[in-house]
Amino acid sequence: MDLLSIDSLSDDQIATILDEGDRWVESNRSGAATHAPLGGRIVFNLFYENSTRTLMSFSVAAHRLGAEVVTLPVEHSSARKGETLDDTARTLNAMRPDALVIRHFENGAPARMAPIMDCAVINAGDGTNEHPTQALLDALTIRRHLGRVAGLKVAICGDIKHSRVARSNAKLLSRLGAEVRLAGPPMLLPDDLHGSGDVDRAIEGADVVMMLRIQRERLENDLGDAPGEYLSRYGLTAERLERAAPSAVVMHPGPMNRGVEIDSAVADDPERSLIPLQVETGVAVRMACLRLLVGSPSRPV
Ligand code: CP
Repeated sequence: MDLLSIDSLSDDQIATILDEGDRWVESNRSGAATHAPLGGRIVFNLFYENSTRTLMSFSVAAHRLGAEVVTLPVEHSSARKGETLDDTARTLNAMRPDALVIRHFENGAPARMAPIMDCAVINAGDGTNEHPTQALLDALTIRRHLGRVAGLKVAICGDIKHSRVARSNAKLLSRLGAEVRLAGPPMLLPDDLHGSGDVDRAIEGADVVMMLRIQRERLENDLGDAPGEYLSRYGLTAERLERAAPSAVVMHPGPMNRGVEIDSAVADDPERSLIPLQVETGVAVRMACLRLLVGSPSRPV
């Protein structure tokens, strides 16, 4: 089984990942030793784009479960000599890993590798398409803090056009019964998702305000905004957050452009910001994903 998108998961599998992730958060906090359910398994990390959170949390998750982690430094790999993605998949598959965690700048790259690989392939973010484990960890973070996802109003604001996080969250949080509102600058709204250019309206009464990074590396034309202009027009400031529900929480998948899409006073607010919790939950959710995908024998001996 692979984890390529939110749609590749059944409702039961989503519930299993969230429930088990919940238990791993508590277990990781207590420092209780795990019984190494993935002992003897090998997880490959293959990251064609930069990452701090996803790469490290998959590595920590695998280690906590007793698996060995091997990370290919892509900048020193044969991809730099022109090897195709398909040939890289065939090469890595011949080493018989138990899971491949892949991040790639092209939409669909994990889905392209999956039929070539005998092991589980996990999408750790592909282009502007999907980042399913980010959405799963976001859902669990919300559930742990607010007690539920169903019925909540979740405003996802910023660079929607280039955001795989927005696409996966729009699918998952809607499936879990939330009202998802997407909003951002008109030039950063995509054709394939319904979004509004009015961030203030999206935040009105929201229970969760999730801000997204401007992905300047994916912009065809620079926004041409003056310093501070994006924050005042579209970013999350303490003043704008007052429009949200009184108990609203703040999220951001990271990395943050402080002072651009989010003001530091909001990002670092210990009462309202769930950003550090998102990272903690990320390890737990990825443990649950690895257990689900790799936990049973993947091939006969
Ligand atoms: N949220 C997220 O994907 O962060 P990284 O790019 O640091 O992995």
